[in-house]
Parts: sequence; C-alpha cells; structure tokens
Amino acid sequence: MKKVCSLIWLTFIAISYFCRGLQSVSEIPNFPLNNGKKIPSIGYGTWMANGQDLENALEVALEDGYRYIDTAFLYGNEKVVGKVLNRWITDGKLKREDLYILTKLPPSGNRPEGVSKYLKKSLENLQLDYVDMYLIHVPFAFNEIGDNLFPFHSNKTINMDSSTDLKAIWKEMEKQVDAGLTKGIGLSNYNETQIKKVLEYSRIKPCTLQIELHPYLQQNKLVEFCKKNEILVIAYSPLGSPGLTKFFENFQKKIDRPDILGDSTLKAIAAKYSKTTAQVLLRFFTQNGIVPIPKSTNPSRIKMNIEIFDFQLNDQEMNEIKALDKGQRLLNFSELFDGIDKHPEYPFKSQ
Ligand code: A2P
Repeated sequence: MKKVCSLIWLTFIAISYFCRGLQSVSEIPNFPLNNGKKIPSIGYGTWMANGQDLENALEVALEDGYRYIDTAFLYGNEKVVGKVLNRWITDGKLKREDLYILTKLPPSGNRPEGVSKYLKKSLENLQLDYVDMYLIHVPFAFNEIGDNLFPFHSNKTINMDSSTDLKAIWKEMEKQVDAGLTKGIGLSNYNETQIKKVLEYSRIKPCTLQIELHPYLQQNKLVEFCKKNEILVIAYSPLGSPGLTKFFENFQKKIDRPDILGDSTLKAIAAKYSKTTAQVLLRFFTQNGIVPIPKSTNPSRIKMNIEIFDFQLNDQEMNEIKALDKGQRLLNFSELFDGIDKHPEYPFKSQ
C-alpha cells in the first residue's frame, strides 16, 4: 500500500512538474505578424556564441521556454543550432511547429542568385525543411570570395560589391516564400528610405525589421514607421551588448561602450520590482510591441532574461526609459568592415 501511495505521489509530482513546464512556455505571449503567423515576444539571440558553449546554452534556453531562436549564416553557428533543434525534435520534446527559427542572408550572398543558394545552405546547417523568417542581414554586399564570409583586401579594407540591387534581391526573397523554404521574409539594418522602396515594389511585404535597439538608441522614428506599416521590430543588442568590447578586441580594436545595465534610472526601476536592470529593459521592449533577442550563455542569466512576464512597467517608468535615448549607436559596421560606409546602400550615411 505504501509503495502504491508513493508511486501515485511521484506520478502526481511528475505530472504537475510537466504541466508547470507547459504553463511557463504558454505564458510567453506572441505578437502577430503581417503574414498571418505569430512570433514569440522574446527570442534567444546567438550572435557571438558558438561550439559547446552555445550547445549547452541552447539546451538551457529551450528548457526555460525560449522558442524563438535567432541565428544567421554569418554567425557561423547554424550547425550547432541545428544539432540541438534536431535532438529536441527527434526526442519528441518539441515539434517543429513549436519553434520559431530565424536566420539571415549573409552580405557575401547579397545578390539575386545568392538568395536561394544561401537559404538552402542555412536549411542544411539547421537540419530543417523551412525557416520561419529569413532576413536580408544588411543592405550592403561583399564580393563572394570562395567560402570567405569576411573578404578583406590586403590593405585591410573590405572587398565590397557595389552593384547591389535591393529590388532584385527582394524579388528572389519572395520566391523563397513561394517555394515554402521560409514562412516569412524581412529586413535587417535597413534605413527608412530603403524600407519605403521595398514597400513600393514588394508583392510580399517584409514582416520584420531587425535593428540595434537599447535605451541609448531607441530609433523612435524608424520604429513608428514600422508600426504604421505593420512591420514588427526585433531589437538586437537590447542590453547594450556588454560582450561587444571583448568581441572587438578579437579584431585588435577598441570601442567606447557605455554601461547601459548600470544606468541609475534603470537600477531604480529594477529595485522597485526586485528585478534586474536587464529584465526591466527586456520588459520595456516587449511592452512596447518590440521583440528583444538577448544573448547569453550563462544559465542563470538565460533564465532571468525570460522571466519578464510577471510584472508591468507603468507609464511613468516607460517614459523615464524613453527619456534615456541619446541616439548612441554601438555598431555601425564601418568599425568592423573598413570602407563599407562608401557602399551605395550603406544604411547609416546621414547619422
Ligand atoms: P553572458 O553570455 O555571459 O550572459 P546583447 O544581447 O545586448 O548583445 O547582450 C549580450 C551580452 O550581455 C553578453 O555578453 C551576455 O553575457 C550579457 N548578458 C546577457 N544577459 C545578461 C544579463 N541578464 N545581465 C548581464 N549581462 C547579460
């Protein structure tokens, strides 16, 4: 009898644990997209993560309820993402349709014939038949030199392709939706003028725009323009990219990065809710209809970053954070790709 009771008790604990897991996942709200699909209101960003670190982190992220995974061919980590996703799907822990997978066309493939070629490469890396969203990573292009994703001339300037025809590239992007290789298509790092042109000639509208956004760079005009045109905004570097300094050191470069997570306004708001400044920021974005994609390979930070749906910022706090904007861009690409600001489609010319 005792054994039966403890068996029942154990079963009860297992079921309630399982249900709690399901509940926490279903608690993550989705945002609607203009292609009739939905996107989770927070994603897991993978830039600057790779190898075993990323593999372990993705396991944690999926356990914690992240369902939108953001990657790119350029990050060189799609195979790791694919390995973990495949494990979860094969083990029956998740179905493909439970996941939201976004990847991007690299600058060295940024020409009409590159679109299907690189999307197919990404699908192979990710071990998927389709992605949920395919973005043009940047509006400028590099020449394709073998497999070299970062082709530099001997004088260290970037080997760019100035013949970029964004309309012809978009027409190929649309064909990928027709072919069922992606559910939606979108843009990244485009400016308002470039997006306006896409809207004029598009048969399939861009669903999303992914841009750098954090309290010190809020890009309100661009965000409002996107909202008006039913383009959902995805925020990269939402925490102000604390890892960027180290990343630049790999290129023997120094950047002056502000400590956004240490901002006193954010700290005061965080203290009120017993949350971290990172959680306040991520909440700020989702509350404003923007999807942040924080990157972390640290298990406790991965978990914390998604625990943002149990509190709400009031109007005054939202306005206090809005007032922190100072138009401070952390990444304009010319620090990384010397000479890219001369490309005809370089997006940040007037800034
Ligand atoms: P780590 O991977 O060690 O957690 P962003 O998404 O703005 O680019 O920020 C990513 C960087 O921020 C990474 O260096 C990551 O480091 C760090 N990070 C992620 N989440 C948090 C957090 N909750 N608090 C502090 N730093 C964080």
